[in-house]
Amino acid sequence: MPSTDEPCADHGVEATGDRIEPTGADRGVAARRDRAVRAAAEQGLLGPETPVAGLLDVTGVREAAAALRTAFDEVTADGTPVLHAFAVKAAALVPVVRLLADEGLGCEVASPGELALSRAAGVPASRTVLDSPAKTHGELREALGLGIAVNADNPQELARLDALFSAAGSPAPTGGASPVGLRVNPQIGGGSIGAMSTATATSKFGVALRDEGARAWVVRAFLDRPWLTRLHVHAGSQGMALELMAQGVRETYELAEEINAAAGHRRIDTLDIGGGLPVDFTSDEPPAFAAYARLLRATVPGLFDGRYGLVTEFGRSLLARSGLVLARVEYTKTAGGRPIAVTHAGAQLATRTVFVPASWPLRVRAYDAKGRPKPGPAVAQDVAGPCCFAGDLVAENRALPLLEAGDLTALLDTGAYYFSNHFAYNSLPRPAVHGFAPDPSLPGGIRFALVRPQQTPAEIVTESGEAQREALTDLRTG
Ligand SMILES: Cc1ncc(COP(=O)(O)O)c(C=O)c1O
Repeated sequence: MPSTDEPCADHGVEATGDRIEPTGADRGVAARRDRAVRAAAEQGLLGPETPVAGLLDVTGVREAAAALRTAFDEVTADGTPVLHAFAVKAAALVPVVRLLADEGLGCEVASPGELALSRAAGVPASRTVLDSPAKTHGELREALGLGIAVNADNPQELARLDALFSAAGSPAPTGGASPVGLRVNPQIGGGSIGAMSTATATSKFGVALRDEGARAWVVRAFLDRPWLTRLHVHAGSQGMALELMAQGVRETYELAEEINAAAGHRRIDTLDIGGGLPVDFTSDEPPAFAAYARLLRATVPGLFDGRYGLVTEFGRSLLARSGLVLARVEYTKTAGGRPIAVTHAGAQLATRTVFVPASWPLRVRAYDAKGRPKPGPAVAQDVAGPCCFAGDLVAENRALPLLEAGDLTALLDTGAYYFSNHFAYNSLPRPAVHGFAPDPSLPGGIRFALVRPQQTPAEIVTESGEAQREALTDLRTG
């Protein structure tokens, strides 16, 4: 049985000669997407020698950021400090981080590279949170020096922080400004994707709270360290039930209450509840920020009464819906009777989708060479990528209008964890990413802005050890 994508005509627009008109029912994300594909083809962003690019809907990103802010504004007491820190790993692109900062968001970073690019985007230290599970001594020292919030992952990291503080001759962080927290794992169980489930009994993240003696150890750790003022939990992500995520937050809140009672004052002043809101990869539904915030409010009312500051760390839910990968069909053929379209988007871009298709299915849209939604009856076919291994398929046996050479395919909902998580198989280049927004003064009604240029062959050679060309031949082997 072919897997069925949404009906082929469900584009939210109708092709009317040279114009594309919104159908009325949908002037939102689907209509913007179709206009952008058409404009990308018209303006030459895609072509025979530029066969793949990422497109990012700036309106959609701003809408998602606004929805997140509103969702939490509606459930928190007036005056509660709330920092929405975008999880940079979801789209490690300076202009994207800058756009979200413009929408009032900060950053959650998990490596020196992510920290450097969030700084390059102008995100201040006071709106940055460092979370990696494997921070080096140097990374910790840098973060404390900058005044960035740090969430320690485990007892050894806490001991390293102890040493850093006492080396600085102070019981408080060097810069004095870094709030420090401890990540806990409430061990509430996982969701439908094991690799995305951070709160299982044996997860590598945080202090496993239900392990014998762990809870008492955490309480003691706080009582012994006046500078430890936050608890952090990230009980996501894709494939997790919202109720389970909310339970993880509740258990963390209850621990904060216990620690504060033991300390006799409000030692923990902020809870960082992480991100992890799943995205529906089968529809254009907007992210469920409002539903999640209301569920949290119902499950953990005390978290919202103004006694605790809040940090969130959403990634996928902020960006997925607003991105698409557009790729040209280079050739078509049949094998064993099945049509195959060989495109330029495969495992190098949609790595999870290609290797674990059951967990990461993507909607695929068919457009003609001019970027118009492709008409025609649905035919089961494979949509393949350019990588040299047989399994490099972004859709298998998928019912779509029959693709032809020169057509365009769009991989939808790829705004998070696709553009910047490149897999350099076959030394294929990282593609260009273009942001788009409506502009009635332009022919296609869309203005593009380059977010990141396509990687050049020369850059690939440089990154592949060009300067070390003779390194191995010069090594004497005995
Ligand atoms: C600590 C932490 N916070 C936030 C996120 C973002 O999660 P999501 O993109 O699912 O919202 C992640 C993702 O891995 C994470 O590890």
